[in-house]
Amino acid sequence: MSARHSDAHAALWPSLGLTVLDGDRTPLDLDELFGDRAPKVLEIGFGMGDTLAATAAAEPGRDFLGIEVHTPGIGNLLAEVQDQKLSNVRVARGDAMQLVHRLAPGSLDAVHIFFPDPWPKARHHKRRLVQPANVALLRDRLRPGGVLHCATDWPDYAEAMAATLDADPGLELLDHDRAGRPETKFERRGAGAGRPITDLRYRRRTGNRSSA
Ligand SMILES: C[S@@+](CC[C@H](N)C(=O)[O-])C[C@H]1O[C@@H](n2cnc3c(N)ncnc32)[C@H](O)[C@@H]1O
Repeated sequence: MSARHSDAHAALWPSLGLTVLDGDRTPLDLDELFGDRAPKVLEIGFGMGDTLAATAAAEPGRDFLGIEVHTPGIGNLLAEVQDQKLSNVRVARGDAMQLVHRLAPGSLDAVHIFFPDPWPKARHHKRRLVQPANVALLRDRLRPGGVLHCATDWPDYAEAMAATLDADPGLELLDHDRAGRPETKFERRGAGAGRPITDLRYRRRTGNRSSA
């Protein structure tokens, strides 16, 4: 981490940070974590956190929880939180799905998965984040009407994502709008290499009570 990142980490991690341990199933109350009852957005794999910080600054009425495994990214997000004086951000370190298991059904207003690792080799596809069991769990944690927003610059992953999301009975396609999503480093890299950017926004159907 740079000095800026480690200073922000030292100052903010004790109050804003959460370490997610594999296998820990202790329920996590998001209203308690943020100290308010605002709608909650989870961003999975926030990278350097620029998108999360920009969105949190633009939407002070919603709370944003980001999870990453990449330490410099966590430091950068905390530095942005410090510089921009954001009070609606919390930062988790660890595996995203371990965290999602601990959330209450219906507790999320939205889930953001922007440019997840594409795992281009077929034998690694099972490591992809957007796969049926993970989607079922994420859908269960969304409130009815809540939105799962995915974006990718890998056409075959976009196709696989759409097939997986279409196959989940509790989700319905909302649109392909980027919905104000700020451009990320990975998006610029993909677009620079000539790859098309796909946004997929699905909504949890209302009246769906199925549990993952
Ligand atoms: C290709 S990068 C994209 C980062 C960022 N969303 C962007 O668009 O710039 C994917 C990120 O997801 C993180 N990641 C992958 N699997 C994860 C998991 N299971 N839990 C948390 N973070 C994860 C990686 O560490 C990496 O930073």
